[in-house]
Amino acid sequence: MNDWTKRLVSGWNALRFALRSRLRIRLGRVRLKPAPKDRLYPDIATKRQERELLTAYDFQRWHELLGLNDYRLNLYHLDLLRWLQPVLAQHLPRVLRIVDVGSRTFYYAPALFHFFRRHYQVESLLGIELDAYRRYPNGFTAYDYAQAYLRELGESGIIRYEALDFMQVTASYNVCTLFLPFVTQDPLLHWGLPLGTFQPARLIAHAFDQLEQPGVLIVTNKGPEEQQTLHRLLREAGIPFADQGPFTSAFYAYDIPRYVTLVMK
Ligand SMILES: C[S@@+](CC[C@H](N)C(=O)[O-])C[C@H]1O[C@@H](n2cnc3c(N)ncnc32)[C@H](O)[C@@H]1O
Repeated sequence: MNDWTKRLVSGWNALRFALRSRLRIRLGRVRLKPAPKDRLYPDIATKRQERELLTAYDFQRWHELLGLNDYRLNLYHLDLLRWLQPVLAQHLPRVLRIVDVGSRTFYYAPALFHFFRRHYQVESLLGIELDAYRRYPNGFTAYDYAQAYLRELGESGIIRYEALDFMQVTASYNVCTLFLPFVTQDPLLHWGLPLGTFQPARLIAHAFDQLEQPGVLIVTNKGPEEQQTLHRLLREAGIPFADQGPFTSAFYAYDIPRYVTLVMK
């Protein structure tokens, strides 16, 4: 996008974002739509891995509850976290306070909770979303969806979702997940946010400042270029990081693989 188009799109986004954030309209209770999954992974090796994940992470109930896409994405996130676990285990303490930044509908909350609960004691898991009243074509908002996952998780004392700007979060945590934070302007504009909300350097610095020691930031980016942009921001902020490279999973094939970076404190 050229500068003028960016300004135009940003202005339009600013109007709509301000309106939905102020009105906070919710359509109501979302019902998760279970779907049969018998033929989801015809490949024998993948089917076996699926069974292993379901057993290891006590995930059978979500196999019954979720729609196909949600289910595949949750397996993807379980697989990703399990891939990282040997590194995480060396650094993280036993009791975790976890924050997820930019949770959207928090569709991966089941994977996050079940993964960390299996290996650690989860004191809290908080999903934070700046644009929680963003509306989907069926009329429901991200907030409505998040309530559905939280209701089924049933751990209201531990798991929460808040419609908030992460910059306003002053609580500390020892795990922070940032799945696909905006590090360039065009994806943020396409998403429907105004350029005033594009502050990747501040966001990264804030995530690191609020991180306890020992603690870990887990960041994914879409493709190597976005990851390079993240790494430049981290270098400029003087924050050391470990490049974990691309992650691919048999459970969900993104068109562009996710690249993973860990920041240990
Ligand atoms: C590309 S989406 C990724 C969503 C989700 N993490 C995923 O992996 O599907 C980035 C999300 O970050 C949210 N976001 C951007 N700035 C934020 C901020 N300052 N605080 C909280 N959420 C923010 C956006 O509204 C959007 O939902």
